[in-house]
Amino acid sequence: MSDFEGLVAVVTGGASGIGAATARELAGRGARVAIIDRAHPEPVEGIFRATADLTADAEIRDAVDRIGTELGGIDILVNNAGIGAVGDVGANEDDEWHRVYDVNVVGIARVTRHALPWLRESPSAAIVNTASVAGTNGLPQRALYSATKGAVVALTYAMAADLLADGIRVNAVAPGTADTPWVRRLLAASDDPDATAANLRNRQPMGRLVTADEVAFAIANLASPRAASTTGIVLTVDGGLTTLRV
Ligand SMILES: NC(=O)c1ccc[n+]([C@@H]2O[C@H](COP(=O)([O-])OP(=O)(O)OC[C@H]3O[C@@H](n4cnc5c(N)ncnc54)[C@H](O)[C@@H]3O)[C@@H](O)[C@H]2O)c1
Repeated sequence: MSDFEGLVAVVTGGASGIGAATARELAGRGARVAIIDRAHPEPVEGIFRATADLTADAEIRDAVDRIGTELGGIDILVNNAGIGAVGDVGANEDDEWHRVYDVNVVGIARVTRHALPWLRESPSAAIVNTASVAGTNGLPQRALYSATKGAVVALTYAMAADLLADGIRVNAVAPGTADTPWVRRLLAASDDPDATAANLRNRQPMGRLVTADEVAFAIANLASPRAASTTGIVLTVDGGLTTLRV
């Protein structure tokens, strides 16, 4: 498939996990791809890298403008970067609430704000946000993280409504637990990694974790110009967690 031929795609958090898989998928389907991340431990040939922190407005503005100028525009924006938080509603102090919101929610607004002038010039403009099943299901010990991902779902609908007239489609994916460096870090930090891994697998009706490539495929399909009538949806990629009772 070469449905992204001639298009420029920007992926935040593209140095790892779902973002890295998405960058590969989009490049494989013909896009010129740029990733924005705060670090680039394993640079991939052919993929443009910009180093910027989602919480630093000037860094993000400069990164977006450099990508648009050097790659000749921006057609696709994948707002994927995010961070986790563990605990019930009482577990985290205000500073931590603000820190996680600043990346997971305000970060999307920040990148999108600077990308909009470029996206408005594109005949095939699309944004895909990475939400989570935590934003639409009550999962234990994820209060803060879930609140940010619920906000991403709400923001996706609002953005889709506002940007319809500009010809910019906006959708989201809601992955279940995916096998990425993030989840591997979580497991390594738990008291009993094997038992925690088994719990996570068992929570998925398919009995296994989602793969980063499966999420990347869903993101690319939502972003593709071939999905021209699809806007304002949240596509679950969760092994059946949201809807199946088996
Ligand atoms: N892995 C899962 O189980 C899972 C499930 C549902 C949703 N998600 C969501 O998918 C997205 C990607 O997760 P992942 O598992 O690939 O994680 P990951 O940790 O492997 O990758 C996240 C990337 O985002 C970057 N990043 C984080 N904060 C940043 C900041 N302030 N500025 C710039 N870059 C920053 C990191 O450097 C990293 O490269 C996140 O939004 C996450 O909430 C993950």
